[in-house]
Amino acid sequence: DPLCRSGVWRFHELLPFATPDKVVTIGEGQTPLMPSDGVASFVGMKPGQLFLEYEGMNPSGSFKDNGMTAAFTHAHTIGAKRAACASTGNTSASLALYCCVSKLMQAVIFIGSGKISYGKLSQALDYGALTIQITGDFDDAMQRVREVSSRMGIYLVNSVNPFRLEGQKTIMLRVLESLNWEVPDWIVVPGGNLGNSSAFAKAFHELKELGLIDRIPRLAIINAKGADTLFELYENRGLRWNAGVPNSEVVDNYYAELDAAHRRADTIASAIEINRPVNLFKCIRGLECMDGVVREVTDQQILDAKAQVGASGLGCEPASAASVAGAKLLREEGVIDAGERVVCILTGHQLKDPTATVAYHTSDQKEFDRVLGSRGVSRAAFANR
Ligand code: F0G
Repeated sequence: DPLCRSGVWRFHELLPFATPDKVVTIGEGQTPLMPSDGVASFVGMKPGQLFLEYEGMNPSGSFKDNGMTAAFTHAHTIGAKRAACASTGNTSASLALYCCVSKLMQAVIFIGSGKISYGKLSQALDYGALTIQITGDFDDAMQRVREVSSRMGIYLVNSVNPFRLEGQKTIMLRVLESLNWEVPDWIVVPGGNLGNSSAFAKAFHELKELGLIDRIPRLAIINAKGADTLFELYENRGLRWNAGVPNSEVVDNYYAELDAAHRRADTIASAIEINRPVNLFKCIRGLECMDGVVREVTDQQILDAKAQVGASGLGCEPASAASVAGAKLLREEGVIDAGERVVCILTGHQLKDPTATVAYHTSDQKEFDRVLGSRGVSRAAFANR
């Protein structure tokens, strides 16, 4: 049964929108949860207490396949012939792959010019997606694809699509399964468009309601410092769900400030270079459901953490390492206890963005300057480990 070979669809009872004959799967979600004592020691945890959920092992190399199989299945169910997304590169790689393998739809992709790593761009091109580069960044591309897809009746697969999130719930089901259904203390995840964090909270909420778990872990969402809308609004400006009524004035004011200052998102972690996360309110609800915290980490902290994940033998792309950098920060603050059990989500494969990795490790000063020179990053921390 092909459904059993999918780490998403073997949980199909918890994704009840799909009928089995319409499921489109390419074997996504067969990802391991790995303990890492090297990373545990870097973070300041006791051995055996830190786990890495290695989503880079998915067919397109990132966690996106968990959501794409679900959105794609829904698109197929309703007879869509074209599907679109804006992307910093992983959503587009995933969409392009599902279109390519299934031959059911044409992929239409909007990317911000220069805002995507070559590894990810090459996937979209190789898989034959119609790839449109626009002047601007992800936030601009997102706005554009929303307009175009609603005007032209194209199926939108960004994480505004609720079926995407249904698929991404299964990342938490697999984490729990790997831990023999013993609930960990913390889930730590990078925050970009905030789809994962929203999906994770929904997963735990549902599992508790079903009586399959007796407590919900705490959630830590980690922003890059140059793209820290959630951190600013949740930790500094007190944005809360307000018993069901989102406080949109706080958000509107903040976005007006960003516009007035012409401030665009800017971080080496290009996957999460996003200032206007589309799942902001869902995520705020999720943070409340999981007694969550939000932190921001610098490019330096991200790259140092990434090097440690590499040294552990797994490797990940910069955005993914924000989770490890965030866990370390929360340990230093004493928010996470050394003896607690922590799961960091490694969202994307190491090979997705080799430019940042090579620049960080190289002794070629020119290459270092070209990629990292404007970012206030140094290599000392890793070299001295
Ligand atoms: N990590 C990686 C590797 C990503 O590609 C993304 C998002 C995130 C984290 C953030 O996840 O949106 O659920 O908070 N990438 C999107 C894309 C924006 O277009 O590929 P989130």
